[in-house]
Amino acid sequence: MTSSNYKIGVLVSGRGTNLQAIIDAIENGELKARIAVVISDKQDAPALERSRKHGIEAVWMNPKQFASKKEYDLALALELKNRQIDLVCLAGYMRILSPEFIGIFSGKIINIHPSLLPAFPGLNVQQKAIDYGVKFSGCTVHFVNEEVDGGAIILQAVVPVHDSDDAQTLADRILVQEHLIYPKAIQMIIENRLHIENRKVTLKESIPS
Ligand code: GAR
Repeated sequence: MTSSNYKIGVLVSGRGTNLQAIIDAIENGELKARIAVVISDKQDAPALERSRKHGIEAVWMNPKQFASKKEYDLALALELKNRQIDLVCLAGYMRILSPEFIGIFSGKIINIHPSLLPAFPGLNVQQKAIDYGVKFSGCTVHFVNEEVDGGAIILQAVVPVHDSDDAQTLADRILVQEHLIYPKAIQMIIENRLHIENRKVTLKESIPS
């Protein structure tokens, strides 16, 4: 497989700035992949419109049309399998994935999260970081396993927390870093540069040319 045949499926729920960072990195040649499909659980997610603008297939899958989370996730997995996706990237996807979905794409799902995991998993994490009084926060790209925000860490970036910050100003500062590390982490996976032992991800030695 040439690297540009590497197919990504992106799952979104909202505005899609991380999706946009991935699209931009592909378009400027930093990321040697193509997005085969973007799927949202929310009909009005601006991320869907971003995708269409770039000629990327954008699909809304309505959770209400499925009897259970498991059925939704199995249908979601089928959509991705039908497009022979190599990697599933969660980009502001706000549904917790079922164990069935995670089993189907085991080791092939990654997420971006706006804190320095394992600190502050879950939701509203910028506010939690401020309330806790940490002096630094940041973002984490990690593999997805059955523990929410608990999978092996691929890349992190650190930002300072200022005394004057509110959740929004901190989120904005973190987001700048998210847009840098997410495409970078994806490209590392595409290049097969990650060595994973237990939950520790390290970079393989590069082979001298
Ligand atoms: C991002 O900050 C992302 O890290 C976060 O949602 C935002 C989505 O923004 N994800 C999570 O909190 C997942 N637990 P975007 O739609 O503009 O990429």
